[in-house]
Amino acid sequence: MTTESTETTTVRLAARVERMGTEAAFRVFARARALETEGRDIIHLEMGEPDFPTPDFIKDACRTALADGHTGYAPAGGLPALREAIAADVAASRGIPVDPQQVVITPGGKPVIFFTYMALVERGDEVIYPDPGFPIFESMTDALGAVRVPWHPGSGTETRPDIDRLASLMTDRTKLLVLNSPGNPTGIVHNKQEIEQIAALCRERDLVVLSDEIYSRILFGGEHVSIAAEPGMANRTIILDGFSKTWSMTGWRLGYAVAPHAIAPVFEKLMTNSNSCAVHFVQHAALAALRGPREPIDAMVEAFRERRDALVDGLNALPGVTCDRPEGSFFAFADVRGTGLDADVLAGRLLEETGVACVQGPAFGAGGAGRIRFSFAAGVERIQEAVARMRALLAP
Ligand SMILES: Cc1ncc(COP(=O)(O)O)c(C=O)c1O
Repeated sequence: MTTESTETTTVRLAARVERMGTEAAFRVFARARALETEGRDIIHLEMGEPDFPTPDFIKDACRTALADGHTGYAPAGGLPALREAIAADVAASRGIPVDPQQVVITPGGKPVIFFTYMALVERGDEVIYPDPGFPIFESMTDALGAVRVPWHPGSGTETRPDIDRLASLMTDRTKLLVLNSPGNPTGIVHNKQEIEQIAALCRERDLVVLSDEIYSRILFGGEHVSIAAEPGMANRTIILDGFSKTWSMTGWRLGYAVAPHAIAPVFEKLMTNSNSCAVHFVQHAALAALRGPREPIDAMVEAFRERRDALVDGLNALPGVTCDRPEGSFFAFADVRGTGLDADVLAGRLLEETGVACVQGPAFGAGGAGRIRFSFAAGVERIQEAVARMRALLAP
């Protein structure tokens, strides 16, 4: 006889975690994996991660760090040598002076979002964030009881961001502006003129900016312009960046913030309270990444460009589908309204019926209605196969 416990426990969760959202890409990934275990052939275009291996020289540096015994705690803010190397790298790439004390090493870029909100946002504050955008910006706004102020960041070459609209959303209650360029999911890259205009608004309104620049090296032309480099912005901008995308190191969990002097020590305190430190030997591997050759990054970006063109051309040739050509990141954000199918329904059918894993646009906010995000996380042949499967579903 089996005995089952009939005991029930009532756990009263804090309202902030009840309000918190999540990331649909992880849910789609789990479902895709489940279908694979049933023997289905799945084309993975759902996750925001490069499918390239981490370069060997980085793995070698990690092995050496382990062999050398770098397995204990590291300082909460990160290894001094890595903070210095990041400061030099960010100074060179953004054209601004960066003091290593402004750099805080975190386990991935994501904690920088968490920490920024924890450090700055209080109940009732207004947060302006990109919508469609990375879902964590909205989730954290909700979690802290702040007020959602979504702003459409533009979706690429065809649709530029509406700066007048952004200005109209700023009020005396605005606490934080979140920017993400190159952007997920739209691939928008804010140009110099747009960044100048946004910086002027921030100075006028005395706003702090979280500038998520995790895709800054994945550009298909043009240049990355950091708002931190605009006059008067360095002391009000937190740059989020990291190793996940640029060096194909998503699972290593290593990112960083470059924060104003008034904020960086708060991030260190948040590190002490949450993680103690980022993984010690991984920080040595990251140091090797920064000191190492740039060819692997260039090769990855070239491969992404080829895939982007195959995917965007393929999508635009499908009945009822249009897609802007992203200028950066590795996402295509297709408009599927012309198919007559709801984006959630279509994304679900693409996975279940054709084995193409992708993420429905509304998972990136209300601004993603009628869209589906495809990441370039598969080679050109697999992308062409995915487009062929979509065609079979849409125009049987
Ligand atoms: C816009 C954006 N910011 C931050 C992150 C988080 O990156 P990490 O894996 O380094 O935490 C992602 C990852 O998907 C992202 O798309």
